[in-house]
Amino acid sequence: MNKDLLMWEETLFRDPNLFELDHIPEYFGHRKSQMETLMYCVRPAMRGGRPLNILCIGPPGTGKTTAVNKLFTEIEKITSKVIPVYVNCQANPTRFNVFSRIYKKLFDITPPSSGASFKKIYDHITQELADNEQILIVALDDINYLFHEKEDEKVLYSLLRAHETNPGARIGVLSIRSDTGDDFHFDPKIESVYLPEEIIFPRYNADEIRDILKNRINLGFYPDVVSPDILNKVVEYTTIPGDLRVGIDLLKRSALNAERKSRRKISIEDVDGAYTTSRLVHLTYILKSLRVEEKILLGLVSNHTEINSGELYKFFHRKSGLGYTRFYETLEKLSALKLIDTKFTGKGIRGRSRIITLRYGANEIKKRLRNI
Ligand SMILES: Nc1ncnc2c1ncn2[C@@H]1O[C@H](COP(=O)(O)OP(=O)(O)OP(=O)(O)O)[C@@H](O)[C@H]1O
Ligand SMILES: [Mg+2]
Repeated sequence: MNKDLLMWEETLFRDPNLFELDHIPEYFGHRKSQMETLMYCVRPAMRGGRPLNILCIGPPGTGKTTAVNKLFTEIEKITSKVIPVYVNCQANPTRFNVFSRIYKKLFDITPPSSGASFKKIYDHITQELADNEQILIVALDDINYLFHEKEDEKVLYSLLRAHETNPGARIGVLSIRSDTGDDFHFDPKIESVYLPEEIIFPRYNADEIRDILKNRINLGFYPDVVSPDILNKVVEYTTIPGDLRVGIDLLKRSALNAERKSRRKISIEDVDGAYTTSRLVHLTYILKSLRVEEKILLGLVSNHTEINSGELYKFFHRKSGLGYTRFYETLEKLSALKLIDTKFTGKGIRGRSRIITLRYGANEIKKRLRNI
């Protein structure tokens, strides 16, 4: 028997959960100053005051969600007077959704989605906080998704002005924004009430990526599955987008490739093969979050090398039955998510005709849209 070969019931994974992207790691290195600032901002709440508002910003895969999860776990261990509520705005993109999450956390039941007026839910929440002298910290993760739905102003206003309608209600807002290179500012009206402490999450450098991945490898794989050369290759690939998710996904897929060939060690070919999929983990994540009409529009764009907006609208309307306003909003959102480019041609009515192109390979998009 060749002992270099893996038996069919054997595996390279000591703990496969460590390579899942929603896993909260025990070891959270290179984010000490960010964690300290987070703690500093919530400290007033621990003494019964209003916490400082926070805005965490950084490119994808730089530990923002993980940091807030860790902070919230700590708070819950220490006190029941401060209630942290985590809201994923991608899954909850409206004010009603956000307040339903808060309601669920406070009362342990979801308010009925029809029938209950927002005002009723809102009053119930603020009254409960005042009566129990509890302080709420609401994390709005991926707040970008509230901008797309134009719900951000309403959500922030309602949260930040709660104490005006109900003086006993104290709420802090911690928003998390994935910085995809766009030049974004909150509306000046919001800025005057929000004024958050900004916490920057920069991209990890190669040494930091190596250290973090090494820790995962030691805990998640059996010994010697990943040689130093292989680790270097994975680090090299991960620094290209600078998104740690790529590295974690790459380790998982490389190991699965090696297992498929019954080998006990990951080879360079396993990593190269895995990279074609792993480099686009973020794309897959974004596509999964799209609404039906957004997927339809993206699918239509991916059928053409380029298409003008008038023609695209005709196709879109035929397939979805939706009108021009929704078409325009959907186009804007796909552009904000950096899935498509839109360029004015100077032609058409008042030069408003636009040429739409895809920012990814058409096959990459089509394959993913089929599978989600
Ligand atoms: N310092 C770190 N130590 C260990 N693991 C980390 C660290 N930073 C990030 N990770 C891991 O990398 C992955 C991505 O991190 P996270 O989800 O926190 O990124 P993010 O900044 O919220 O990204 P996005 O803007 O795309 O939401 C997670 O699986 C997380 O476990
Ligand atoms: Mg995140």
